[in-house]
Amino acid sequence: MTETHPKITKAVIPAAGLGTRFLPATKATPKEMLPVVDKPAIQYVVEEAVSAGLDDVLMVTGRNKRPLEDHFDRNYELESALTKKGDQSRLAKVQESSDLATMHYVRQGDPRGLGHAVLCAAPHVGHEPFAVLLGDDLIDPRDPLLQRMVEVQQQHGGSVIALMEVDPAQIHLYGCAAVKPTGEGDVVQITSLVEKPDPADAPSNLAIIGRYVLDPAVFGILRKTEPGRGGEIQLTDALQELAADEELGGPVHGVVFKGRRYDTGDRGDYLRAIVRLACEREDLGPDFRTWLRDYVTEEMQGS
Ligand code: UTP
Repeated sequence: MTETHPKITKAVIPAAGLGTRFLPATKATPKEMLPVVDKPAIQYVVEEAVSAGLDDVLMVTGRNKRPLEDHFDRNYELESALTKKGDQSRLAKVQESSDLATMHYVRQGDPRGLGHAVLCAAPHVGHEPFAVLLGDDLIDPRDPLLQRMVEVQQQHGGSVIALMEVDPAQIHLYGCAAVKPTGEGDVVQITSLVEKPDPADAPSNLAIIGRYVLDPAVFGILRKTEPGRGGEIQLTDALQELAADEELGGPVHGVVFKGRRYDTGDRGDYLRAIVRLACEREDLGPDFRTWLRDYVTEEMQGS
């Protein structure tokens, strides 16, 4: 008989980081609110959780993060102005974000690291497995990674993390996984994890990207996890303990993602996300693509 695992209903979105790579834009505005075409980056992330069936969303926020709460709340002044004008299409856009999911918020007083941010979710999550989506990691809506991870968790239990192959020279920017195959093409078993290794010591070129489905046993481990790399409480360190001892919270699997992903906290990737998503939009795409083609042709002629 196959074992059944508790259904996953909750998503946690850590969004309390300082966003220093994007200063000065993020001095008074959370980086998650920077627009990707005409929607803040964070709305794509909440939409992704909802598409995977998780409409109970807890956002971990901090100082300067009020705009995040306002974005997912009603805005009666704007709604009544648009209603008076009869502008139904913009009214729908304003209401879309507040109708998306059941939103909850918790504050992380001090940004003591991603592991600490996840620990702030413990009282809300309780004893069920849950998903974690980093607020500045954008997965292209056409590449349903989280859904696949939920499926794998429901099949194997334990925890599931998302991995992506990166250029070995870039692995020092990520958490890195040592893995063994499972016989299922995109699924691997994690044998160990290390946060931001030197390329010479990295066990693979598989980088951890910002999607996780976690067994609640991670909370007990995080409570005991000492600050690691960068003086921060690292989620990777806690996951390494889970991977090293299956008795703690079941196995840790990885789903190797081959789709499109953007780190919107990185300026170059942020620009690439905007160009790509704008090109593919039905309303903006045709004109924008024409302009982009002419622009690139001019640049090539100039060089
Ligand atoms: P980053 O490593 O991108 O850090 O965090 P950061 O502070 O947000 O950005 P930079 O590097 O200074 O530009 C990864 C994710 O973890 C969250 C961030 O909001 C981001 O989604 N995080 C990080 C927290 O919620 N709390 C923390 O203490 C640290």
